[in-house]
Amino acid sequence: MTESSGTILKLNKSIIRRYRTSDAEAIVDGADTPLVSEYMTASFPSPYTLEKAREWIKIAGEEGSLHFAICTIDSNLVIGGCGFQHLTGVESRTKVIGYWLSPKYWGQGIMTEVITSFSDWIFGQVPTLLKLEGSVVEENRGSIKVLERAGYQHEGTRHMAVCKNGRVSNCMLFGLTRDQWANAA
Ligand SMILES: CC(C)(COP(=O)(O)OP(=O)(O)OC[C@H]1O[C@@H](n2cnc3c(N)ncnc32)[C@H](O)[C@@H]1OP(=O)(O)O)[C@@H](O)C(=O)NCCC(=O)NCCS
Repeated sequence: MTESSGTILKLNKSIIRRYRTSDAEAIVDGADTPLVSEYMTASFPSPYTLEKAREWIKIAGEEGSLHFAICTIDSNLVIGGCGFQHLTGVESRTKVIGYWLSPKYWGQGIMTEVITSFSDWIFGQVPTLLKLEGSVVEENRGSIKVLERAGYQHEGTRHMAVCKNGRVSNCMLFGLTRDQWANAA
């Protein structure tokens, strides 16, 4: 990990690094669209204003944060984000993954590569971690494909568990245990 530049992973299609204060406009450019927000949790801003982006950078850009910018290879411009939420109590050895990508970059395999490598990275960084999870509404076929291709297993479906903007959805739970991850490696 090259902490000085904040880069944690240099992949074939993108770079994953810490957020910088100069990233606010690029975040808004990529994230301020219902195409992205419709599948994100309620805490994802919509509209995604510059002020919201600056607030996010303050929180996510801190050392030790598990939220990172996904950037272009050529210009290190933010085109998406990925991160992990901590669970607590008896679930504290599980983390929940979240991610988004600017629609201009969809369908190029960028997120499949990110989630595969980012999952490897977190298992390596946190030796006590037992499991990664991801939750996806059933309509989000692209995201389901990403998780499946990154080795996550469909563990069950929570029927009518999500209501966003008046649309009720079934929520599919995906998981990747440390054992599954190690066996696939
Ligand atoms: C989901 C998301 C991250 C996928 O990123 P991406 O870089 O385009 O993903 P990839 O290119 O690695 O893979 C997506 C795959 O799903 C496919 N796909 C996308 N939309 C699809 C759809 N509606 N039906 C079927 N397949 C679909 C793509 O064609 C691609 O498959 P292919 O490589 O076989 O062609 C991106 O669309 C996004 O940010 N969406 C909005 C936010 C979001 O949903 N975040 C995740 C919340 S769980």
